[in-house]
Amino acid sequence: MASCRAIGIFDSGVGGLTVANAISLLLPNETIFYIGDTARIPYGNKSKEDIEKFSLEMTKFLLDKDCKAIVIACNTASAYALEAVRNTYPAIPVIAMEPAVKPAIEHSKTRSIGVLATLGTLKSDRYSHLKDKFGQGIQILENPCLGLVDSIEAGKWNDPETILLLETILKPMVDAQVDHIVLGCTHYPIVIPLIANIMGDSVQLVNPAPAIAKQVYRQLAERNLLCVNTDIKENSPKHTVWATGSTLSFNYLLKELLPNSELIHW
Ligand code: DGL
Repeated sequence: MASCRAIGIFDSGVGGLTVANAISLLLPNETIFYIGDTARIPYGNKSKEDIEKFSLEMTKFLLDKDCKAIVIACNTASAYALEAVRNTYPAIPVIAMEPAVKPAIEHSKTRSIGVLATLGTLKSDRYSHLKDKFGQGIQILENPCLGLVDSIEAGKWNDPETILLLETILKPMVDAQVDHIVLGCTHYPIVIPLIANIMGDSVQLVNPAPAIAKQVYRQLAERNLLCVNTDIKENSPKHTVWATGSTLSFNYLLKELLPNSELIHW
């Protein structure tokens, strides 16, 4: 049975809006309910127990609002809480992030790639398995980008201090001639223009959001859960976005990444 119930998406903050954006572009009929846990951001330096607890709370919030599927639009929460969310809600499709190491390696000509992700993601078993599986014979330069999520949440998308931070993070990657950089945290696509400026045109920045949107499409289609309302001009969906703490960056980013949405302080 087709369903126009909302797709529930969560992240620790505004980062998951980059995924919500890709989903809304691929599936314009769908309504999105999004929650950013800005009261407890960052997740990237929290324990597995905390991340599981927070992720289950965010999921419950969305399911209480009758969402038909959950997208964990946070690499860190995907690495530590996916199993707990799936085990707790076995009947609900749960789509999660994974650093796009495999496609970056497959397309790399220099055999040298960069991975930008949170400390939590870089330390996770999920990430280690990916490297073991696909990273043989490849130089992989990693950086936990300390402070970058905070700068992005604070709306410093083009500030000299963010540019300096990124220059420092990326210098070893420039020197090692990486030809792909995996954006392994959903916040980082927000500063793609800065990263691209430092790395130059020849380096591909791998944002997994469009691939995640395709997965959402496949999972909903398989279960007959796609919203088949075709009259999207007249019945354009109204998305709803909650933030548990600060809404600072949401106010601006929503206009760009998820227009036609209402922002509610939780
Ligand atoms: N956006 C999240 C991710 O993809 C993490 C940001 C944070 O540290 O909270 O990992």
